[in-house]
Amino acid sequence: MTHSTDLNETLFERAKRVIPGGVNSPVRAFRAVGGTPRFVQRAQGAYFWDANNQRYIDYIGSWGPMILGHGHPAVVEAVQKAVTEGFSFGAPTEREIELAEEILKEVPSMEMVRLVSSGTEAGMSAIRLARGATGRSKIIKFEGCYHGHADALLVKAGSGLATFGNPTSAGVPAEVVQHTLVLEYNNVQQLEEAFALHGKDVACLMIEPIAGNMNFVRASVPFMQRCRELCSQHGALLVFDEVMTGFRVALGSAQSVYAKAIPGFKPDITVLGKVIGGGMPLAAFGGPRALMEQMAPLGPVYQAGTLSGNPVATACGLATLREIRKPGFFDALAGKTRSLVDGLQAAAAAEGVPFAADCEGGMFGFFLLPQLPQNYGQVMKTEGAKFNTLFHGLLERGVYIAPALYEAGFVSAAHSADDIAQTVAAAREAFKSLQK
Ligand SMILES: Cc1ncc(COP(=O)(O)O)c(C=O)c1O
Repeated sequence: MTHSTDLNETLFERAKRVIPGGVNSPVRAFRAVGGTPRFVQRAQGAYFWDANNQRYIDYIGSWGPMILGHGHPAVVEAVQKAVTEGFSFGAPTEREIELAEEILKEVPSMEMVRLVSSGTEAGMSAIRLARGATGRSKIIKFEGCYHGHADALLVKAGSGLATFGNPTSAGVPAEVVQHTLVLEYNNVQQLEEAFALHGKDVACLMIEPIAGNMNFVRASVPFMQRCRELCSQHGALLVFDEVMTGFRVALGSAQSVYAKAIPGFKPDITVLGKVIGGGMPLAAFGGPRALMEQMAPLGPVYQAGTLSGNPVATACGLATLREIRKPGFFDALAGKTRSLVDGLQAAAAAEGVPFAADCEGGMFGFFLLPQLPQNYGQVMKTEGAKFNTLFHGLLERGVYIAPALYEAGFVSAAHSADDIAQTVAAAREAFKSLQK
């Protein structure tokens, strides 16, 4: 079955005349994989339909938020009710308290939380808080981790541990990233050397605990333990960017997964987004009370937002969190995701395609490599051309995965066993063409 892309092409041509590259976020443009982006007409459950009315099984789910699938009735009802009560007030509402309470209940490392509108904003504010609270300037991040597009984070490694980063975007002055040190993910030795050299100046270490922006790469337990120890020893704050993993890999987020392996483990600051807004613009950052009381209006660290804690977005997030905390939700989601990953693995083996995959809760990743990579350099060894063939092979068969090999995938509660079986069958056919 092949899908005509005519109406998508027409829309793409029209979009390119008025929107740079035709899209409002670069990865949507299909630049990495080639071809025409699918313009979404509508979505329901595990599916969306494009401009040609072709249906796709959706493994992106808005890049993570749609953990219940699209158009979950309880969420739609909550949003519809909220809309009739008003869109935005610029004054506090009870719903913001409810959402904050709901988040804190499941993530005990946080005693207070501030709601904002995007993951970028939350990450940027978390760094300002870390710098404000410690009185230090330097931050450590890891190659392949994405924390939003704030200036200080658009940075690649400098020439050595003694030199800080170089901007990865035009428009970011070198002085702005001179305090950002970029290290290799999962490299304990480099981490130790960096702290030995710069420890007393480091405000925070920011990390995606399970990185979803270099496909899917877990921080190893010994590496994470060392991150925690070194931050504590040197008075730096450990910032967990759980924009993607938060309420996605487990109800207690990725930190609960590490706490199982490292007794007493917790980060100092947590950054959340995606699932907590259920598909609406909502994100958050939080931590212990004494730290969060450094924020304005109580403390000296300034941060604000016209639409922060928006009443429609908070209604959407609350309804979503109330569904996912129902007993058994995550076991079922994790089981589905595991069956997808195992099915893909078996299909690849049957076709003789090198393949390695991993998953946690409702998040997964796979690589056309014989074994799972541990860092960005290893991820980049995946052959782009092969990934692109696989991507288009799946797309033609009505399966939509991320249009770039360095992105994770997401399964929702709405995906059925039949959807997963169809996906695995489509992948097996697509793997055949990889061998040609
Ligand atoms: C781990 C992580 N942090 C931060 C962000 C930025 O979030 P947003 O796109 O909402 O600004 C993303 C976005 O994908 C992300 O995956």
